[in-house]
Formats: sequence, C-alpha cells, structure tokens
Amino acid sequence: MTDIAVTLAEKRGTLTAEDKLGFGKIFTDHMFVMDYVSGKGWHNARIVPYGDFDLSPAAMVLHYGQAIFEGMKAFCTDDNRIVVYRPMDHWKRFNISADILSIPQMDSEVLNAGLNKLIEIDKHWVPKSLGTSLYIRPFVISTDPYVGVKVADQYTMFIITSPVGAYYASGFKPVKIKVEDHFVRAVKGGLGEAKTPANYAASLKASEVAKKEGFTQVLWLDAIEQKYIEEVGTMNIFFKIDNEIITPELNGSILNGITRRSVIQVAKDWGMKVTERRISIDEVFAAHEQGKLQEVFGSGTAAVISPVGELSWKGRNIVVNNNQTGETSQKLFDHITSIQQGRVADKFGWIG
Ligand code: COI
Repeated sequence: MTDIAVTLAEKRGTLTAEDKLGFGKIFTDHMFVMDYVSGKGWHNARIVPYGDFDLSPAAMVLHYGQAIFEGMKAFCTDDNRIVVYRPMDHWKRFNISADILSIPQMDSEVLNAGLNKLIEIDKHWVPKSLGTSLYIRPFVISTDPYVGVKVADQYTMFIITSPVGAYYASGFKPVKIKVEDHFVRAVKGGLGEAKTPANYAASLKASEVAKKEGFTQVLWLDAIEQKYIEEVGTMNIFFKIDNEIITPELNGSILNGITRRSVIQVAKDWGMKVTERRISIDEVFAAHEQGKLQEVFGSGTAAVISPVGELSWKGRNIVVNNNQTGETSQKLFDHITSIQQGRVADKFGWIG
C-alpha cells in the first residue's frame, strides 16, 4: 500500500450552524493530492492543507478540458460513526470516466485509503444533523503546460470535501421542469456517461434559459430524434406509470448514477416492478392523459431524490400528482437517507 504523507494545517476551521450549510461553498482544512507523470505513474500521494495551488496558464485542462470528477458523501451516524456511501462503486465509476477521457487508471484501494485518512483528519467537519453530510469531490486535471491538442502526460488528482445541507435551497419539494427541445446534453459515442466537466458545461445554457422561463431545470431528450428521455438536470430520471417504475436504460449517453442503482435495487427489494428501457416523452404525456402517470422524480448523489411536479413540453403542461411529493418518491428518499445515516440495516453492503 502506498504511503500517504501528511502535512497538517496550522489553523483548523470549525463547523457551525448546520442548518445554514447550503451546498458546496465551505471546504474543510485538508485535501488529498496525488501526481501522475508518464513513465513514472501515480505517485506522491499526500494530504496537505486545503488551499490554492500553482498551475501553468498553459495547463492542458484549461484549454481542452481533459478532466474528470466524482461526487460522493460521508455521514455521521446516530452512534457517531463516520461512514461513506458506496465508496468502491464511486471509485469504479471514477476509473470508467478516466478511461473515457484517456486519463491513466488509478488504484481504487489507494484512493479509498487516501479518502479515509482525509476524513479521519477532518472528522470534526462532518455534520451530524439529519439531511446533512460531508460531500466528497475527487477530481483529476491534466497539467502539462502545452497548447497543442493531445492526451496529456501529467495529471494531478485531488480530493476536497465540503460539509453540506440540502442541494436545493427550496428543500425536498416538487420542481417545475422544462422538456428541452432545442439544446442537447450528450450523444451516443460521446462523453455522456463520464463524469467530466464538458457534460456540465454543455448543460449550462439550456438551464439558464429554462430558469429565466421560470423552471427549475430541464429534462434532456436524446440528441438525434429529441424523442427519448435521458436525464433531468444533472440527475437520472424515474417515472411511476401504472405502478411500474420506469427509468431510461443506460445507452452510453446517460450517466450510470450510483443513486439510480440504489433506487432500482431498493424498489425491486420492496417487490415493485422496475424496468430499464427506452421511454419517449410522448409516452409520458400519453400516460398522463390516461391518468396512469403517478410520479416523476430525479435521483442523484447531491439531492438523493428530487420529485417533479410539472413538465412543460412545446407549450403543453402537465401537473404530476397534483404537484405533491409522491408516496414512492418520499419512501425512497426516506429509506436511502436512512441507510446512509445508519438508521436502518445496510442489507446491500453499501456503507464503507
Ligand atoms: C448529483 O450528485 O446529483 C450531481 O451530479 C450534482 C453535482 C454535480 C453537484
């Protein structure tokens, strides 16, 4: 196992006002860092004080975006243990994103040892109240000072952490969604399945336009026919139609969400019918007309479950479940957050 050198910060911050945390603005005292140089591999794993770092203005990531990231969470259980939700699944996906972006593979055991050490050192930053967590942001950037286009030879990998509350300031309540029929997020054979900045950059314009029109986010359709549903905002999407839970099947342009997987497994475990298949926007609107569309919700690490109360597509509006949080959305939110906080048995072995 790689040695992880530790340099402690001279001053430690303190976590206060857990009810005012918001999302992703406060960072803990330390960060994990590791370097890569072609020929030498990943090396110099270390924990150092959190802070700005030197980067050449010519660093390749700034010009061509060869970078990846992850998002996971650590929780403080009622009996004061700090646990991470599905860490090895996240490290596996990190390496899948690395492969898609031609970034060298990393040893998941080293990454996890680095994360655990970082959390141990900054454990006083893990909030305790229900609905809060320590958001963990691993990422890799290409650092060669070179403005030609190629796969980089040098990279730096970081893990930074941030105590967080609810992702949406409005809390857990149904959101209003615009079905996007102009912009597209990702194409098959492209980067859609990777957690890479380009996918998020590609989503910003549509999201800005939708917000100006009074929506919270957009529902992404496939890039070719603009017919089949892909994702909602930065989340995977689920429909409850006639008591069946349906989510778009993974096709290379949809993110293989860890919370998506959790939802599928938990709902199946409850005996619900869960289907991963192509689903078109016409089918959803038709199901609503027939009175069969019971619930729509997004799933992601940040918000866990986000109920959808309204869908608007080419001037047609539908209201889902009277704009109320559905029974299944609420149950899934309660159950998954209870597993994460150690309040119910971890029967799937998701707590690391
Ligand atoms: C999620 O975890 O749902 C996201 O993808 C949002 C994150 C990029 C802040």
